[in-house]
Amino acid sequence: MSVDSLLQTPAPLAGPLTLIHGKDEAPGWWRSAVIYQVYPRSFRDLNGDGIGDIAGITAELPQLADLDVDAVWLSPFYRSPQRDAGYDVSDYCDVDPLFGTLTDFDVMIAEANRLHLRVIVDLVPNHCSDQHVAFQAALAATPGSPERDMFIFRDGSGASGEEPPNNWASHFGGPAWTRIMEPDGTPGQWYLHLFDSSQPDFNWDNQGVHEEFERVLRFWLDRGVSGFRVDVAHALVKAPGLPDWGGRADGGSSDGYPGHEAPMFGQPALHAIYRKWRQILESYGPDRILCAEANVDPLPRLADWVRQDEMHQAFNFPYLHAGLDVHRLRGVITDSLLTLDAVGAPSTWVLSNHDVVRHASRFGYNGPGPRDGDGIGVWDHQPDEALGRRRAAAASMFMLGLPGGAYLYQGEELGLPDGIDIPDGQRQDPTFARTGGARLGRDGCRVPLPWSAEEPHNGFGNGQEPWLPQPESFKQLARDAQAASPTSHLNLYRRMLSTRRELRLGAGSLSWLERYCTGSSLAYLNGSTLVVMNLNHEPLDLPAGRVLLRSGSATPASDQPVADLGHRLGSNETVWMKINFEDAES
Ligand code: BGC
Repeated sequence: MSVDSLLQTPAPLAGPLTLIHGKDEAPGWWRSAVIYQVYPRSFRDLNGDGIGDIAGITAELPQLADLDVDAVWLSPFYRSPQRDAGYDVSDYCDVDPLFGTLTDFDVMIAEANRLHLRVIVDLVPNHCSDQHVAFQAALAATPGSPERDMFIFRDGSGASGEEPPNNWASHFGGPAWTRIMEPDGTPGQWYLHLFDSSQPDFNWDNQGVHEEFERVLRFWLDRGVSGFRVDVAHALVKAPGLPDWGGRADGGSSDGYPGHEAPMFGQPALHAIYRKWRQILESYGPDRILCAEANVDPLPRLADWVRQDEMHQAFNFPYLHAGLDVHRLRGVITDSLLTLDAVGAPSTWVLSNHDVVRHASRFGYNGPGPRDGDGIGVWDHQPDEALGRRRAAAASMFMLGLPGGAYLYQGEELGLPDGIDIPDGQRQDPTFARTGGARLGRDGCRVPLPWSAEEPHNGFGNGQEPWLPQPESFKQLARDAQAASPTSHLNLYRRMLSTRRELRLGAGSLSWLERYCTGSSLAYLNGSTLVVMNLNHEPLDLPAGRVLLRSGSATPASDQPVADLGHRLGSNETVWMKINFEDAES
């Protein structure tokens, strides 16, 4: 890969270009891959119990192959009491009966192989479920025992240990410590849980924990997975002595990122763990990958996670948090490419996942929308759905033109909004209960998918009610309705993904086209493809060239087609163009 940072390129295209990132020639499928996140509970319910299952995933994999993604990442489907939708694992090497069996998993892998789709699974190494045998053994053992040492147990503070050992708070609200009853019935030690009290943190100072997770990695690699998305990868190791933290007590900061020096995040000892894991993956061949869910800022620190002998990828949360702010977007893209290029790693890009309000809803606000993890309720200021979907299409087209890998979240190809009208009694995110309803939590982005407009539950499953109610608009947005409409959001995604592959945009280069980088628009060249996003309320004149795709042509299945603006780019619209350099210069 050649990187010429911040050079003025010689060929002007209606104004100066600022080259940030050269073409990526390095081998590795993931460097330019589009990876589609499947949230198993909400993907497709084949057995009719109202909750998605692995057989449902297998049945619909051809749809994902047809979408032209490279891989799927599955959120947890392991044995779990489901207190945090499966991120509370009680057995890392089995499938929860809610989702099926290990045989179902093997059948799914075989189908994925047939379709040339890779499968990545979620690894949750920071914590398990309080029902995990190791934690049950720790509860039954005595303070100071090897069983307790698998977790982070401490005596409380205060005269009789009645106060938590330090001031850390849970991400889901409330303290990060819970006191247990000792086996003899007296109030005893406290254990640490950065998330729900049903999710005790492992003690990564204990070699036994390392060995257990190395076994888990091998178990799934042996079953044919192409890698792991590593949950809260920045949190496994805690600072010695577990000191009080003067910042926001859950380690976060006001801008949504972990505090840079927080004692529960980003500890240096983490890197040796990931180096060891990388060696294990490489013993299976060069194409298995690790992707860090590491909410790390600033970007140069994120680069430490993807050095050549560590993880292959890390999620780019600064990109997700930049929203539609063109200055922030430009800054994040430039910094990401420059800092990750410096360690030879590709960037990733992402707009939605199972923890944030879907971007079709976030972008439906003019002004501040909901905070991450807080959701939108019926009494909140409501997003404008049509505006949100139009901007979402523009933002996705802008993202999918960028060089590097991209992560999509199930349903974004349909332009789905968040579910808003969810009765309190049906909300399952622990954030809701732990904050007494003050924060609604993440259920809104987890509503089951609509597959077919005319089937019960919009084709999610034809048995019991889906575990969360689907909004009215899901009927119109159902996959089969959109498949039949050439101008649908779904068909725009299909065209974007096939064009991205054909033009090899993921392995391409990036130069900013200064003339179009204004307070409300951004433009870059990737090879000879020009990408322009216009967030102004006025149309924008485009340079000479051939329009390949424009996001404004996407409408929900039954809307009227949009007006053809010719060589003008509409408000909240993105275009991909082939540029004829000679024409453009004249
Ligand atoms: C996952 C969340 C989960 C948390 C605890 C994350 O960052 O994405 O869904 O609640 O880790 O496992």
